Amino acid sequence: MTDIVHPATRPANPRFSSGPCAKPPTWNLDVLRDAPLGRSHRAAVGKAKLKAAIEETRELLNIPTDYRIGIVPASDTGAVEMALWNLLGARPVEMLAWESFGAGWITDVVKQLKIEATVKTADYGQIVDLSTVDLNNDVVFTWNGTTSGVRVPNGDWIADDRAGLTICDATSAAFAMDLPWDKLDVTTYSWQKVLGGEAAHGMIILSPRAVERLETYVPAWPLPKIFRLTKAGKLIDGIFTGATINTPSMLCVEDYLFALSWARSVGGLKGLIARANTNSAAIDSFCAANDWIENLAEDAATQSNTSVCLKFTDARITDGATFAKAVAKRLEGEGVAFDMGAYRDAPAGLRIWCGATVETSDVEALLPWIKWAFEAEIASL
Ligand SMILES: Cc1ncc(COP(=O)(O)O)c(C=O)c1O
Repeated sequence: MTDIVHPATRPANPRFSSGPCAKPPTWNLDVLRDAPLGRSHRAAVGKAKLKAAIEETRELLNIPTDYRIGIVPASDTGAVEMALWNLLGARPVEMLAWESFGAGWITDVVKQLKIEATVKTADYGQIVDLSTVDLNNDVVFTWNGTTSGVRVPNGDWIADDRAGLTICDATSAAFAMDLPWDKLDVTTYSWQKVLGGEAAHGMIILSPRAVERLETYVPAWPLPKIFRLTKAGKLIDGIFTGATINTPSMLCVEDYLFALSWARSVGGLKGLIARANTNSAAIDSFCAANDWIENLAEDAATQSNTSVCLKFTDARITDGATFAKAVAKRLEGEGVAFDMGAYRDAPAGLRIWCGATVETSDVEALLPWIKWAFEAEIASL
């Protein structure tokens, strides 16, 4: 084991967590200096910041002008729950899942809302057969399964003339993948993911058809104030212009505005996608060159460019979970990779965040360390 030499270079930033994700490379505390702290979020200065966050999001993600964008409580989870509780129940529901977050939405819909949904699931590494999805139903799915590294390859399976609504948890996809807005009726994400913003604030993006449903359908169950998007049958306009339901953190808003400006500085959406693609491609090459490690996603067309999940395939490994944990611990102990173990419900392995805020030079510097940790653990078996 003593023969196994440490790689010469270390990642400058060892943060490869899949959420909260690394801050943008140029971030420092000073970028928050213009935050209107100690002021009301309903004062002109606060409202202007919130409105800017909405409109700059629209511009960066090319969201159509007739879609509504709201900042809502409780991060991505809050935004997804808000969609499920407000919209579902009007027509049959189809739930799709191929990892733990999608599975969580199934639990909510089937067990909490008690909707007899059609449930389609696939094992970690696979995806459901999207050609079987009935778009006359309301369909709930996750664009990128953060815990399996399996993503929807495109939106071609979503009919333009669908009768149902598509509700898409895109938290680890937005700002890293092309989202076809005409195919998505509700899209959600959190600032803490691809842009490396802060947690606790969610984004909900509604198509005109989603708004129509909200204004014409009243669910059979009660809705707490924190979820309510309508009043007397009309969309609450303020939520979509910066008058949030309850008090947001203006520090987090400032941080998000900085992240958006950084995103523009690297070429906007195209630049962000390119950065994630280059990062994940570096890992692909590493897997191709080493026969003991593989992408968990079986079909290359579904492999994530953000939450890249890897599994060890060496026949000498008998206890996969212990082995993978030991590798992650070794890397963390060396200070070269934080938070890189597979998600608690996912198969044993590593998960390397490759979103835009991660520098390719850091991914490249990390890879020889994974080889080093693998060899050290094999030697200690
Ligand atoms: C696909 C997916 N959905 C939902 C969540 C929950 O996000 P949040 O904690 O921001 O609510 C996560 C977090 O990792 C996720 O990856």
